[in-house]
Amino acid sequence: MSGINEQGRLVRLAEADRDPLIFFLDGFERQAMQGDTVLTAVLLVAGSLRGSEFGAERRAGFCLMGACQDCWVWQEEGPRFRACSTLVKVGMRLLSEPPKSWPREQS
Ligand code: FES
Repeated sequence: MSGINEQGRLVRLAEADRDPLIFFLDGFERQAMQGDTVLTAVLLVAGSLRGSEFGAERRAGFCLMGACQDCWVWQEEGPRFRACSTLVKVGMRLLSEPPKSWPREQS
């Protein structure tokens, strides 16, 4: 879904002088800038943010302000979070599809 040759949905037009950082999306090394949200970082390098729980359509967020919950993304380790209200961090390892362990069974 986020293969190495995929084009981003967004194009950075301004603020290109912030420090770069490296994160990983579906195992591929990607570059973002300090201060980017995860949603911005992913959509600059991929056509969509994640798969849908309800069908084959891909999702790219909707409200962009933490209200709609359309931008949940998973990490290789750790909890999922809303991409529009989370800043990307150095070395973050993100997944555009849920890991096999999700959702975890409640005990
Ligand atoms: S895009 Fe709506 S909560 Fe993130």
